[in-house]
Amino acid sequence: MEKIKVLFVCLGNICRSPTAEGVFTKLVKDHDLEAYFSIDSAGTHAYHVGKEPDLRSQAAALERDIDLSGLRGRQVINGDFEDFDFVLAMDDENYSILINACPEQYKTKVNYFLDYAPQLNERQVPDPYYGGQYGFERVLDMIEQASAGFLKTLQESGRIKSTG
Ligand code: 4NP
Repeated sequence: MEKIKVLFVCLGNICRSPTAEGVFTKLVKDHDLEAYFSIDSAGTHAYHVGKEPDLRSQAAALERDIDLSGLRGRQVINGDFEDFDFVLAMDDENYSILINACPEQYKTKVNYFLDYAPQLNERQVPDPYYGGQYGFERVLDMIEQASAGFLKTLQESGRIKSTG
């Protein structure tokens, strides 16, 4: 079976996109759909390549039973646009870097992650790096909603089976 390959992208790959990778991976596991997916995350910038997720992101995620400790930062590479089916950006800056770098034939793969949570009326997952604890909770809340919407969209499109 061909897996659905999903890449979450933020700036540093230490706060928002590893959180999205962890949240979506857990959601998929909870629905027993692991076999359908290959899930990864990356940053548009190289500042934190090889680093574990920000300890504040890890702590906030762990409170929701999501372990990010094994993840390591990496930068987006050109091959990602061919390899992945979905390249999901956390904010305008990430989106514009990705859409500009993406070869023409793959541009439809690049989208805003929060478009899967239209009820939020927001496209930006706010960068929590320079803020307080509240920012990390807000990131998790938004990402949980977009993850649920993304999975539902895939189920409704018939690409994967529907579960309870
Ligand atoms: P992220 O957060 O893009 O959600 O991983 C950031 C992490 C680091 C920096 C900016 C944003 N930084 O400037 O180092």
